[in-house]
Amino acid sequence: MKVALASDHGGVLLRNEIRNLLDEMNIEYEDFGCECEGSVDYPDYALPVAEKVANGEFDKGIVICGTGIGMSIAANKVKGIRCALVHDLFSAKATREHNDTNMLAMGERVIGLGLGREIARVWLSTEFEGGRHENRINKISQYENK
Ligand code: RB5
Repeated sequence: MKVALASDHGGVLLRNEIRNLLDEMNIEYEDFGCECEGSVDYPDYALPVAEKVANGEFDKGIVICGTGIGMSIAANKVKGIRCALVHDLFSAKATREHNDTNMLAMGERVIGLGLGREIARVWLSTEFEGGRHENRINKISQYENK
């Protein structure tokens, strides 16, 4: 698995924590910033990561900002992206099992670094269940392709 990772200035600390996690899990990743001193614009980081996941260059993407909301809104504009904003462990598991999400968004100002790390661990370790859920995802793809 290859993961694309990015944050804006509001998510730098949690992004560093996720880098440590990916190292520990022996998961290949690339960090797309930000290398920010000051404030940056989250779409400039969410959209390139989402495009790299959508075009198959990376299998999954993790994006972090202050709330996770801006990153998730931007990522979900890219065709083929199913980005879940997750702040609890139940949803981290369920969104992989049911929605086959290929991107995870989190908000550093909403959750602690420890919880963020565990959310990412669960999300990265959980497989899609397929079955009835496949049909639902196909309906989203069909709408996207209209
Ligand atoms: C930046 O201040 C903040 O707006 C951003 O990190 C994010 O929370 C946007 O959704």
